[in-house]
Amino acid sequence: MESTRKLADLGIADLRAHVAEELARTRQRSAVLTEAVDDGDLIKQHSPLMSPLVWDLAHIGSQEELWLVRDVGGAPAIRPDIDDLYDAFQHSRADRPQLPLLGPVEAREYVATVRSKVFDLLDRAPLEGRRLVEHAFAFGMIVQHEQQHDETMLATHQLRDGPPALTADPPPSDVDAGLPPEVFVPGGPFTMGTSAEPWALDNERPAHRVHVEDFYLDTTPVTNGAYLAFIDAGGYDDPRWWSDGGWAYRQRTGMRAPRFWWHDGERWLRRRFGHVEPVPPGEPVVHVSFHEAEAYAAWAGKRLPTEAEWEKAARFDPATGRSRRYPWGDDEPGPEHANLSQRHLRPAPAGAYPGGVAPCGARQLIGDVWEWTATDFAPYPGFSAFPYREYSEVFFGPDYKVLRGGSFGTDAAACRGTFRNWDYPIRRQIFAGFRCARTPRREERD
Ligand SMILES: [Fe+2]
Repeated sequence: MESTRKLADLGIADLRAHVAEELARTRQRSAVLTEAVDDGDLIKQHSPLMSPLVWDLAHIGSQEELWLVRDVGGAPAIRPDIDDLYDAFQHSRADRPQLPLLGPVEAREYVATVRSKVFDLLDRAPLEGRRLVEHAFAFGMIVQHEQQHDETMLATHQLRDGPPALTADPPPSDVDAGLPPEVFVPGGPFTMGTSAEPWALDNERPAHRVHVEDFYLDTTPVTNGAYLAFIDAGGYDDPRWWSDGGWAYRQRTGMRAPRFWWHDGERWLRRRFGHVEPVPPGEPVVHVSFHEAEAYAAWAGKRLPTEAEWEKAARFDPATGRSRRYPWGDDEPGPEHANLSQRHLRPAPAGAYPGGVAPCGARQLIGDVWEWTATDFAPYPGFSAFPYREYSEVFFGPDYKVLRGGSFGTDAAACRGTFRNWDYPIRRQIFAGFRCARTPRREERD
C-alpha cells in the first residue's frame, strides 16, 4: 500500500490554480538564476561540463513549447527554426556554445512568449481524457523540467569564477547532539515506487513490492569532518578502498579531495558560490563522485545503501505497513521538513531538521545533498516509457548510478520519496554526497 497525494483529489479549478502557482514560482527561480549575472556571464561557458546559462533558459522554453503549446494545445510552432538548437540529444554540453543560440534578450522574449501561451492554454485545456493531461501531468512534467534545469543552472553558478552573485539565508544550525550514528531497519517487504503520485515520472512507476533484508543505515549523511578522516588516513592513496574503475579514475584525475576543496597548508578551504571559507566539519560532504563515496564506505567498513534500502528507510512506516510520500508523512515539504528549493545555498549541519525524521530515525534523507546509492539505473518491473523513451529508458543500464533524496538545490516539486535521479559515477559538480549502510554482523543477528 502507498499513500495518495492531495493533488490527486483536487477539483479541476483548484488544479488549474495549483499549476499556475507552480509555473509562476518556478519561473521566479529561473529569473533569479539568470538575472544574477550580466549578459557576458549568461553567454559564457563556465565549464565544458555545463551549458551556457542562456542555453538552459531557452531550452526550458523550448521544452515547454513542444509539450504544452504544441502537443497539449495543438498550436503551430512559435520558432520551428530553433528546435534543433535546444534538443539536448542533438548537441553535447561542450558543443553548445558554438551554436547560433538566442542571445539573452531574445531568449527572455522567447520564454515569455511561450509562457503567455501556456497560461492561455491552462485556462481552457481539458485536464482529463488523455493520459498526458490527466491531473495536469504535462504541466507538472514541465514544472519539474524547469526546476531540474534550475538546479543545473545552480551547479553552473558553483562552477563560475568571480565574486558571489547569489544570496540566501543560512540553513537552520540547530542540531540534535547525541543522535545514534546508525539506525536499524528491520527486514521485510515494502512498497517501492508509486502508481498514485499524479506527477511522478515514468521511472518511478509502478508501485511494486520489494523485500529488503535487515540493515543499518547512517542516521545522517556523511559529514565533511568524517570525510576528512578518510583523507587524513590516506584514503585517496590506497587502492584497497577503491573499485578498479574508481581507482583508474582517481589515478587519471589526481583528485585528492572533494571538488572545490583545497589545502592551504594548515586547513581545508572550499569555494562555495564565490565565497572562500574553511570547510565546515559538521555539514554533509558534497561534490563527491560515486567512486569517492564507495571508497569512503569501504574504508569505514560499510557500503553504500542499495536504492531499495534507501527508499525503504525513507518511506516505510512500520506502524501502518504503508509507504509514505516523504519520510515525515504525506504533507508537502515545508521549511520545517527539509533543506530544499534553493532556500539556502548550502547543506544544513548533520542532525538538523528534526521535523523531517523518518520512522526509522534517519535524518535529512530529503534535501541537503543528493545521496549516491549502490544501484544502477534500471526500470522497475512493469515499467513503460511515458511520455517518450528519451525521458528515462535510453539511460537505463550500468553506465548510471541512482541518486536519491534531492539537495538544497532541488525544488520540492521535483523531489519525492520515490524520485530517482541518475548520473555517471565520475560526476562531481552536482550537489551529491552520501550516507553509508551495512549488513548486520553475525553477533548482531541473534
Ligand atoms: Fe532538459
